[in-house]
This record gives sequence, structure tokens and C-alpha cells, in this order.
Amino acid sequence: MKPSELAKPFVHAYPAYVPGRPIEDVAREMGLDPAAIVKLASNENAFGPSPRAVEAAKRAIEHGQLYPDGGCLALRNRLAEFHGLKPEQFVIGNGSNEIIEFLGHVFLSRGDEVVMGLPEFVMYRLVALLFGATPVEVPLVNHGNDLGALARAVTPRTKLVIVATPNNPTGTANSPEELASFIRSLPDWVICVVDEAYSDFADNPPDIRPLIREGLNVIGLRTFSKVYGLASLRVGYGYAGAELASLLDRVRQPFNVNAVAQAAAVAALDDQDFARMCARETRKGIRRLEEGFADLGLEFVPSQANFVLVRVGDGAHVFEDLQHRGIIVRPLKLYDMPEWIRVTAGTPGQNERLLGELAAVLP
Ligand SMILES: Cc1ncc(COP(=O)(O)O)c(C=O)c1O
Repeated sequence: MKPSELAKPFVHAYPAYVPGRPIEDVAREMGLDPAAIVKLASNENAFGPSPRAVEAAKRAIEHGQLYPDGGCLALRNRLAEFHGLKPEQFVIGNGSNEIIEFLGHVFLSRGDEVVMGLPEFVMYRLVALLFGATPVEVPLVNHGNDLGALARAVTPRTKLVIVATPNNPTGTANSPEELASFIRSLPDWVICVVDEAYSDFADNPPDIRPLIREGLNVIGLRTFSKVYGLASLRVGYGYAGAELASLLDRVRQPFNVNAVAQAAAVAALDDQDFARMCARETRKGIRRLEEGFADLGLEFVPSQANFVLVRVGDGAHVFEDLQHRGIIVRPLKLYDMPEWIRVTAGTPGQNERLLGELAAVLP
């Protein structure tokens, strides 16, 4: 029999994740110099990692023959200090994406439901489908998560409710107060997942630690891919009550986070001055993009994250035209928003280049 006949039936219908296009790919296809290409497609950090993280990564690879510490003890200790929690309240993943998958391993069976916004980060839907669960997608209102509607969508079959704040792809945030009362309102058979991938860029991010201390079923997800500029190393974490964290930790691969990533993450946490600079400069970049879009007469969604959603008419067309000019943005067909593109804030020079090229390609 062919492998495709042997595969589980759901795999045939399983939608693939479509990432932002890599610079090398676009350079090859367009015949451009990779150095001249600007990627503003994947909400990465234009300012790169802290030099201290780079040094730590170089030192770590000198011991590349050794398996990493599977328990990520040094990183969990450092995170515990940073957040004022205990090391056993953390679970470390190969990117925070992997923590979403751990949640599936631990909590989702066929027929379970996962409540989430629409549109919201597509991995939530993909992980629900991977475990045979049903994604219950609740339309955003004014591009923001409608917490009341999310709460009303909960049924006895709901296992997870996921809220990204700020949300991806819209960049909107829920207020700490409304988020806290939403979490309190959920029944106790539901785990609330608060995805804080972009919270470092927000004006007034929520603090779910008091809710964790109260013993509520809530987990925060964070990543080193955004404000810490370490997306290539794949490291993220969840923090929750110790019982929830240890359940998630149980289903990981023995060495899921490599030693270079662990060392770089610890060093990045130690360099908060650099992280604060990245957050500050990124916010300035966001304001500049928003101002530029307004000058071009384009509708945009005011952003609390490191990217802005802007309505350009034919998103796929504008994406293609920008690509020919060496700028990669994210078309949003995948999110069923064909008139919009998502643009990550770059360096000041990159932002000006994007605005100039966008002006040139608009009809
Ligand atoms: C909302 C959200 N959560 C999680 C992630 C995944 O981050 P990581 O690189 O840690 O897997 C992303 C990445 O873009 C994201 O947008």
C-alpha cells in the first residue's frame, strides 16, 4: 500500500502552516541580492538579539557534543526570578508553538472543543485539528477578541479557550481588567490560555500571575522570538500553577530545547536594557508605519504589537508587487482577509523603504 493510503484520514485534509517567505527564497525567485531584501512578514525583531545572547550562544556551541539539560533548569530558575514565580511553574518549549502542542497532548481528544477568536494565530486551529478536536472560532469585533462571545461559546466539551493579547494578526489588545473578569467567569473544566507573545510591545499588558496564585486554570505563553530577537533558536515558555506546568512538561521530548537556545535565552533575559530598547524602538516604528499609512489614505488597525494590519485593496497583488521590489510582507488570505496585508515594524530605514515602495505600488 502507498503511504498515503496508510496515513490517518485526517492528514489528507490537514491544512499546512504557511510561514512568511524566507529572504533566500524570494531573492532566488526574483533574481535579487538577499542583502537588499527586507523581510517584514513574520513579526521578528528588526534589532536582532542582544549581543550578550549572541556571545552566550557562541560559548554554548563549543560544547555542542553534549546533550542539553532537558529540564532547562538554568532558564527556569532565571525565569522564576524574572517573573517572581517558582521554577516548577514553567514549562519550556521549542518556541511557544510547542507549548500549544503540549496543551493538545495533555488535554485534547477527539470531539473536544477549543474556543478561539477568528481571525487569531492559526496555530491554535492547527493544533486543535491535529488532536481531532473542533476549533470553535468566534469572530472578532472591531478586530479585537470579543471576550463575552468567547465565554458564551464555552460548552461542556470545551477544554481550552485561547486568547492572544495582543492578538495576531490584528495587533489589538484586551484590557487587563476585562481579561481578568473573563478568566474568572470560565467554568473549572476549561483551561484558559493567554498568549502573550507580543505583550512586551503593549502599553498596558495584563498580569495573570495573581490569577495563577488564586489557583485558576490559566496559563500564560511567552516567547523569545519577538522582543528578544531569538526566533531562529526556537525557545518559548508557559507559566502556570505547578500542577499544570508539570503535566505539560511530562509530554515533551527529552531534549526539546537545545543548549544554544537555552544559553541565549538566559543571557537575553539578563539584558533587559537591550529588550527595553527593542520594545521602545519597535513602538516608534509602529507609530511611524501608522502615520505613513494614514498619509497614504489607508485604513489600518491601531497596533499594540510589533506589526500593523493595513487595508490595501488587493492584498495578494500588493504582496507580489512589494516582493518584486525586495520587500516581503504577509498577505492575509490565510486569515480570510484578502484586502489586507500585515507589516512588521522594521528599523527606521526599513520602515521608510516600505512606505515608499507601498506608495509606488498602490493603484
Ligand atoms: C500569537 C503568537 N503566539 C505564538 C507564536 C509562536 O512563537 P514561537 O516562535 O515562540 O513559536 C507566534 C508567532 O508568530 C504568535 O504570533
